[in-house]
Amino acid sequence: MPLQTQSPVHYKSWKELSSLSDKKYDLGKLFASNSKRFDNFSIHNEDFLVDFSKNLIDQDVFKQLLNLAEEAGLKNAIKAYFEGDKINETEGRAVLHTALRSSKNNSAKVDDKDVFEDVQAVLNKIKTFADQVNSGNRRSYAGKKFTDVVNIGIGGSDLGPQMIVDALAYYQKGIKPHFISNVDGDHVLETLKNLNPETTLFLIVSKSFTTQETLTNANTVRDWFLESATKADVKHNFVAVSTNISAVEDFGIDKDNIFPMYDWVGGRFSLWSAAGLSIAVSVGSKNFQDLLDGAEEMDMHFKTSDFKENMPVVLALLGIWYNNFMNAESEAIIPYTQYLQKLAPYLQQASMESNGKSVDRAGVKVNYQTGTIVWGEPGTNSQHAFFQLIHQGTKLIPSDFIGFKKSLHGNSNHHDILMANYFAQTEALMKGKSQDEVHSELKSQGLEVEEIQKLLPFKVFEGNKPTTSILIDELTPKSLGKLVAMYEHKIFVQGVIWNIFSYDQWGVELGKQLAKNTLKDIQSSQIKNPHDSSTTELLNYYKS
Ligand code: F6P
Repeated sequence: MPLQTQSPVHYKSWKELSSLSDKKYDLGKLFASNSKRFDNFSIHNEDFLVDFSKNLIDQDVFKQLLNLAEEAGLKNAIKAYFEGDKINETEGRAVLHTALRSSKNNSAKVDDKDVFEDVQAVLNKIKTFADQVNSGNRRSYAGKKFTDVVNIGIGGSDLGPQMIVDALAYYQKGIKPHFISNVDGDHVLETLKNLNPETTLFLIVSKSFTTQETLTNANTVRDWFLESATKADVKHNFVAVSTNISAVEDFGIDKDNIFPMYDWVGGRFSLWSAAGLSIAVSVGSKNFQDLLDGAEEMDMHFKTSDFKENMPVVLALLGIWYNNFMNAESEAIIPYTQYLQKLAPYLQQASMESNGKSVDRAGVKVNYQTGTIVWGEPGTNSQHAFFQLIHQGTKLIPSDFIGFKKSLHGNSNHHDILMANYFAQTEALMKGKSQDEVHSELKSQGLEVEEIQKLLPFKVFEGNKPTTSILIDELTPKSLGKLVAMYEHKIFVQGVIWNIFSYDQWGVELGKQLAKNTLKDIQSSQIKNPHDSSTTELLNYYKS
């Protein structure tokens, strides 16, 4: 069943929200007038607590946001998503990354064929491979145990696996992970410089196996490898993950060393598939399974919970409230753990490649805002970088604060300091500091009246800045899977309501085409393709 194609601006709830956005939402007053605000606006599910009470909403706004989800046909859309309907219409594909983590046959079908058995077979192959590499049963061409694994891929074939491997560093089994993504030769050579071909496993991950960056990097790596080994040795140290089996074979990779991907899993949602082989190798097959189990737990929560208690739905609706009615242009992701330092870059692709669209599902240019700008950095580092702008700048930046009750290494003193900052920041962003407070603070410091008057405007914090606190018991493979799946579904819900196709990425294709022609101009003696005068002169300068 196709998704409905109605513009959201025609929904009754959209109009209601539009008029509600004229009201002022003062968080201080909203908390004072409702002692149950936290209970009303928080969701607790096993090891996850999502507190969205510090957002610029009241019961009326929340009600209309929930109505918006209903009017947009979200219930049917979720069904279509999980059952494998071809909701990626411009590419004629289903969107079934949820089937990759399903432990039961949920009747997800592509072209009337159940995908469950196929997925399980590949999952077993992934686990067996990871176990063999970790145990040393699978060895390099030199007969040695692997010490390093290098993932060669870009975009979804890099960001997701890299983010997870980084996030689960605590759980790593001993094989050191590396990621080569940028076609920047310095990135490749810098990585290779400390690696030994006799003990390094290479995973070439490319759904299409045509991506210029990945193939260029893979060729450079293979050439480097062949300086020490023979072509026949490639099969021991190189593995590929792709849908394009013939191109992989042409590259020289053994048939047995090819892990399939599926055209019904978008690159940016593929970390749960064989694209996540670097994860399974790095943290072991059990932890990889736990990651999938966590994601499945969130899938079940998303599929079965009422919208008002549904974490991805609520996060998506809040995002729409700020983006479409409160003129916010971006949203920040602030994890209070260094392990999640790559979460924001990962979510940038997941969200912005999905919902950065300006044509609706009927092919018409939209007259409302769609995808937001996503950015962020872990706290407390970010407090010393960009928090000034969130506190006192001119822009509204709703922020997700992600924290954990326990630290992994168990240094409770550090963890208490870290979390004190987590709680203090959301409170400070909400409360701000009034003129009176600043005045008495400066007075107590012994400042003269004149000095106080001069400094006062700079020291006032308006407050009323919205945050959502996501508090999780512990960073484990399972909770991480749950967290990532929560954001995946948030992106889906927003795309459904914005009436756009979230699972294609035509915008990225133009750059790919243009770069090919430009490369010809750089590498031939004459510039043959027509360019504007700025580009022509820049090319001449580069070539000179
Ligand atoms: O950035 C565009 C894109 O197509 C992404 O969607 C994808 O994750 C990435 O390129 C890499 O593509 P591939 O896995 O086919 O090499």
